[in-house]
Amino acid sequence: MTQSYSEGQSDNSYVIDAESGEEMARLIDQDRLVTRTMGGLFSEREDLSTIFDVLDIGCGPGGWVLDVAHTYPEMEVTGIDISESMIQYAQAYAQVRQLPNAHFRVMNALHHLDFPAASFDLVNARTIVGFVSPKTLPPLFAECRRVLRPGGVFRITEPEHGFSNKAAFETFYGLVNRAASLAGRSFSPTGNHLGITPVLDHLLRTAGFRTTGSKAYTLNFSAGTPAHIPIQEDLKIAFRLLQPFLLSMRVAPKEEIEYLYEQAMNEMLEEDFCALWYFLTVWGSTPQEDHFQEG
Ligand SMILES: C[S@@+](CC[C@H](N)C(=O)[O-])C[C@H]1O[C@@H](n2cnc3c(N)ncnc32)[C@H](O)[C@@H]1O
Repeated sequence: MTQSYSEGQSDNSYVIDAESGEEMARLIDQDRLVTRTMGGLFSEREDLSTIFDVLDIGCGPGGWVLDVAHTYPEMEVTGIDISESMIQYAQAYAQVRQLPNAHFRVMNALHHLDFPAASFDLVNARTIVGFVSPKTLPPLFAECRRVLRPGGVFRITEPEHGFSNKAAFETFYGLVNRAASLAGRSFSPTGNHLGITPVLDHLLRTAGFRTTGSKAYTLNFSAGTPAHIPIQEDLKIAFRLLQPFLLSMRVAPKEEIEYLYEQAMNEMLEEDFCALWYFLTVWGSTPQEDHFQEG
């Protein structure tokens, strides 16, 4: 599978090496923190009585799928991810935890989803901004709608990042945002942010979803908070694994990126370090009369 960061040039557009063991370890820990930040697996929904078949797009090592399968044994939950190593890990974990209702498949979510129309009651996607773009998100949303049953629910949760009181930390995130912009991957017209959260509601409506709602969350990982050290560990890996992407987009010379990395890591350990990640969940449902023909 070819890897390229620029829009439409490869099968694999993830900004980090998806087969990296370090990335997998990072995502296992990050999943727990994000789920806790969001107040649970489906924190915006009280009624799950019509949800039996669930799909998770870009499931990583499968934390969300495994937790849903464990908590709701009456649901069949399927996770898809482009990474073979993440899917192998998730499958092994499902066996160890004896969760026959958790299923995993290697699949590129930017291609046709290999499921018949109307297969699922709910489709979930969380932090997929690292592999989508303004061009590829609308067709993915259309595919999500196709695989949902009439009245089915699509929910997506995406972050905005880089908000802190430290210069190198913020500058490093600025490089990430600029690289995303140069690669045609940013949703922000200036490339100053990821810019994905403001457009989600509009994109859901454009894809034909109805009754949209949204809920915002903050993850505070300032010094002294419970998330501080876990996120410092997370970003120590993420900022390193993002460097090939920054270099390929030529947003700064290698030495400058490495210097900023060291500085940002030091800043995170200062006792007055303050930083937040924002997340927004947006959801919508397919019309009750939705009928898709298999092509
Ligand atoms: C930031 S992780 C999110 C993992 C998980 N959704 C969570 O919230 O913990 C993004 C995931 O997308 C996967 N990915 C990247 N490109 C993909 C693609 N084209 N199709 C499916 N998954 C992809 C990566 O392998 C990675 O596991």
